[in-house]
Amino acid sequence: MFESKSGILGIAGLAFFGIAFLSNAVIPMLMYRNLPEQKAEQLINANVRYQFEDLARRFPAAFEKTYGSPPAETKEREAWLNQKCADALRLGRKVYIAEACWHCHSQFVRPVSNEERRWGAVSASPEYANELQRPVMFGTRRVGPDLCREGGRRSSDWHAVHFFRPADLSAKSPMPEYPWFFDGAADKPNARGLAIITYIQWLGSWHETYPLYEQYEASPLQDMQVDAVPAAQQSPATQARKATP
Ligand code: HEC
Repeated sequence: MFESKSGILGIAGLAFFGIAFLSNAVIPMLMYRNLPEQKAEQLINANVRYQFEDLARRFPAAFEKTYGSPPAETKEREAWLNQKCADALRLGRKVYIAEACWHCHSQFVRPVSNEERRWGAVSASPEYANELQRPVMFGTRRVGPDLCREGGRRSSDWHAVHFFRPADLSAKSPMPEYPWFFDGAADKPNARGLAIITYIQWLGSWHETYPLYEQYEASPLQDMQVDAVPAAQQSPATQARKATP
């Protein structure tokens, strides 16, 4: 066996497999075993909360149908909104996986080809150490644009119309229509529709370039307490907004 060519190649092949398994699976697993993983609730920042409440303003009937109405008392309402928002993020991610959005969209700005000029800052590993990135949705194909900085780039009603019928906003778009995210019309998103929009608006919400285009307006729900979100979870954009009334 050791004298034949195929024997040597066979043993070399097994050895290379062993080395690859060690360096790509075993060592990273041991290195990152104790890395704390953030839960969806901890990922709620003022930006995504803004977008979630924005859904309540743009689609009040649909929002109430899906989530019920928030408690009247401010503190309870904050906790309620944070929880519903976290639930929406979890469901939104499930929808993203189930609908195979990752077949056409990546979530990773690579440090090559000036990608950061098109999509914003190059992705960094800490951005992926949380529940909503397990497993990560890096994607390997880009039929459509990268989405990891998509949050805040478009308004939520833009997304609603786009998911309902992409070609209405982008002529000849190859993106499929998702009528099952809605109760019959683009302004009636159902639970899945609200969740996928929240999830898309969350992507990059932790980043200082957020929001990219959309102008913030007054909160749809009265006396929203941005301060209820720990300062550490607020983006620099939010901090600046608070500083200039
Ligand atoms: C067949 C490929 C394909 C699939 C599947 C697909 N998309 Fe797209 N998507 C595209 C293309 C191409 C564009 C760019 C043209 C357009 O805006 O419609 C796009 C655009 C978008 C945009 C707008 C980006 C921007 O700001 O211009 C978002 C958001 C988006 N897709 C999200 C999704 C989500 C979420 C899903 C899954 C529910 C999905 N896409 C499934 C191909 C796809």
